[in-house]
Amino acid sequence: MSQAFDVVVIGGGPGGYIAAIRAAQLGFQVACIDEWKNGKGGPAPGGTCTNVGCIPSKALLQSSEHFEHANKHFADHGITASDVKIDVAKMLARKDTVVKQNNDGILYLFKKNKVTFFHGRGSFAKAEGGVYEIKVAGAKEESITGKHIILATGSNARALPGVPFDEETVLSNDGALRVGAVPKKLALIGSGVIGLEMGSVWRRLGADVTILEGLPTFLGAVDEQIAKEAKKAFDKQGLKIELGVKVGEVKAGKGGVSVAYTNAKGEAQTLDVDKLIVSIGRVPNTVGLNAEAVGLKLDERGAIVVDDDCKTSLPNVWAVGDVVRGPMLAHKAEEEGVAVAERIAGQHGHVNFNTVPWVIYTSPEIAWVGRTEQQLKADGVAYKAGTFPFLANGRARALGDTTGMVKFLADAKTDEILGVHIVGPMASELISEAVVAMEFKASAEDIARICHAHPSLSEATKEAALAVDKRTLNF
Ligand code: FAD
Ligand code: NAI
Repeated sequence: MSQAFDVVVIGGGPGGYIAAIRAAQLGFQVACIDEWKNGKGGPAPGGTCTNVGCIPSKALLQSSEHFEHANKHFADHGITASDVKIDVAKMLARKDTVVKQNNDGILYLFKKNKVTFFHGRGSFAKAEGGVYEIKVAGAKEESITGKHIILATGSNARALPGVPFDEETVLSNDGALRVGAVPKKLALIGSGVIGLEMGSVWRRLGADVTILEGLPTFLGAVDEQIAKEAKKAFDKQGLKIELGVKVGEVKAGKGGVSVAYTNAKGEAQTLDVDKLIVSIGRVPNTVGLNAEAVGLKLDERGAIVVDDDCKTSLPNVWAVGDVVRGPMLAHKAEEEGVAVAERIAGQHGHVNFNTVPWVIYTSPEIAWVGRTEQQLKADGVAYKAGTFPFLANGRARALGDTTGMVKFLADAKTDEILGVHIVGPMASELISEAVVAMEFKASAEDIARICHAHPSLSEATKEAALAVDKRTLNF
């Protein structure tokens, strides 16, 4: 007899494990199947985010930032730190510990919420009488059934055509987080989120880093003024970013990689490096689901087709996170997971795509929510803009990091906030205020009238809101 569940979740990343917990909180019998293995072959739930994404990349960003501060900025504070060295093995071991703490945390949460966890690959066996039979291939093979299935199988790194990842010299995000020694020369293809974050890590640690980007504009999805300011800071740091390139042949050997490309002027170039990180986007993952057995509809990109409610083409089969349309972000996956569990319970789960924040964890950090100035222009929306530089913020001066600004975009007539864009220290934290404001349909004046602690970086947010009405107090 197969074990019977109300809800079976396939995939234990942020979309899947959160959906499983929320469904259990709502009183369902829930199973979550995840196949990720740790170094010892044991379970490592948390998906890409926990194992080779958000969490380990932020651990390395933190370590490398400390190194850069010790080398370059401690002296400003009167602190002498001579002979500063980086022990890469120790840095990676710390990162692995942080990952394991998160894996263990999710296993604990499953227990606490009475979610039954299966370690192995889940695939559709058959659909019969309104119930789906799911095969679990792990240490042993077993079969379970579910009335509702939530697919949260995530995504994988996209490779350059004909250039497979060997994770030794040609690296995906996985290998990029396991480089055992600082490479002398490192190239990255794609100056998107991973390119900038991983490029920053290894540049801070001493690598000569070049990022080759196909598009002629830098961070095209980011507000132009903010992207320009960020690019200025990266140039100053020595992060080399070449825009408008066309990557040609990539030859990988044991000793390194040779990348042929044409630059923006049409000149043929060759870049010889020790390691190459390919960060040109990610592809939805449905490998091994046996989706064809039950006729699950995929689109031309391989993503599971869903409607606004995350319903797939099959009755009572839902899909969330990177494997469906929309931004590939952990918090978007989580919100969809919660919403689906609530819809299964007959509630009205909702995800507001207009207020999903984005953060790039470089230094300076880049964070935004809502529409950019170029989008508002393209949409013909009449707007007012207000900016405030961190240079004029007391806390930023005390921190010793005055790069960047906060920028507000508000409707010209109603003053409703349409977008907030930040480049600068702690942008990742500051953006939350803007998300809350937009969720409550606040006006720029609402933020301008709220008391913000002094001295704090958040005063720059208040001042940018005041700037919309051309009445900043400190600039
Ligand atoms: P995943 O996290 O990919 O989880 C899917 C899980 O399903 C995996 O464990 C997989 O093994 C499992 N699985 C797949 N098929 C099966 C099957 N048939 N049976 C059983 N298990 C299966 N996002 C942010 O919001 N902030 C960040 O700072 C951030 N940093 C990132 C850094 C990097 C380097 C990368 C690569 C990504 C980053 N992301 C970040 C994106 C984020 O990791 C993803 O958006 C998020 O993990 C998507 O969650 P998910 O649950 O949809 O899928
Ligand atoms: P990305 O979509 O952010 O950037 C890919 C870049 O590669 C783009 O600028 C694109 O123009 C460029 N590109 C594509 N093909 C190319 C080619 N052949 N030659 C040169 N350039 C090429 O993708 P990335 O960085 O791989 O990250 C994947 C996703 O993971 C992100 O979109 C994001 O959703 C998620 N992520 C989120 C993070 C965060 O929230 N802080 C951190 C890292 C990843």
